[in-house]
Amino acid sequence: MDTSHTKVRVKVPASTANLGPGFDTLGMALDLYAWIEMGIAEETKIHLIGDQMSGIPTDKSNLIYEVAQMVFDKAGVKHPELEISMYSDIPLTRGLGSSASAIVGGLAAANALIGSPLSDDTLFQMATELEHHPDNVGAALFGGLVVAFWDGERAEHIRIEPDDRLEVLVAIPHFQLSTEKARHVLPREQSLANAVFNVGHSSVLVAAFCTGRLDMIARAMKDALHQPYRAALVPGLAKILAEATDHGALGVALSGAGPTMLALVDRNSSRKEELEQFLLGTLKEEQIEATLMWLKPDRHGVQLLTHFDEQCTLFENIKGDVRL
Ligand code: HSE
Repeated sequence: MDTSHTKVRVKVPASTANLGPGFDTLGMALDLYAWIEMGIAEETKIHLIGDQMSGIPTDKSNLIYEVAQMVFDKAGVKHPELEISMYSDIPLTRGLGSSASAIVGGLAAANALIGSPLSDDTLFQMATELEHHPDNVGAALFGGLVVAFWDGERAEHIRIEPDDRLEVLVAIPHFQLSTEKARHVLPREQSLANAVFNVGHSSVLVAAFCTGRLDMIARAMKDALHQPYRAALVPGLAKILAEATDHGALGVALSGAGPTMLALVDRNSSRKEELEQFLLGTLKEEQIEATLMWLKPDRHGVQLLTHFDEQCTLFENIKGDVRL
């Protein structure tokens, strides 16, 4: 049976990486999304919908176009001309996995377009190869919490179902910080003590997620490998990391390479407003404007949308769903 399509649409989640100690190894998908439509065309056209997309290439150097061609090459088919549309609620260069969502969305859309010859594992290997760490791409692909490593040849992962009680408050500063810059400040070598600190904390954090020990998150969600160095790039981060758990957070971390900060919160907490005031107040002291957003873990990862009106544009189809 030919399961290929002439046009497909996918919905792909944002993600947060590291969760404190799990540097390059832990990721969680979040219910903030990008949507990609892809179809085979006579001539390549790329439509990026939304203000934040300015500056992103709309020719064949576009990342989504490029990853689609990688899928076609691997599957041994040729579709050099594509029409691609993308709308994203995921802010760019803020540590919420926007590039992982573009890569995973592009891979999944292209694969669906040709009848899904590539397995999820193959897409995961391709995405990790592109990103060089499996944390964001694993979460965007599989949803939930993903624990993963990459040895330079293969990425391995285990997905954990997020606890129902977990909610996420993100503070998204109104400035961009590239992953490259945030990795550049990290020392090339670290002490054995720091390595042991992170292995221990990350292991206990994963065990806490697996066993519902929300009480352990505050103590386990601490890091010695990257956050202390990145604090210089994100005014207010050091105080937020030190004090957010005194204001109702279960745990707090820099989201990926930053500058977004993320607090895990019990959804039944009565201290949500106190936490919001603490985050905004701390950033304001540093003259940093930020947007707060309450999110939940996404449990699905990238999804192929099967019910859409072919006659409507991508945006017309999703406008009831978009957030910003
Ligand atoms: N683990 C990465 C980092 C996340 O912290 O640099 C960015 O994709």
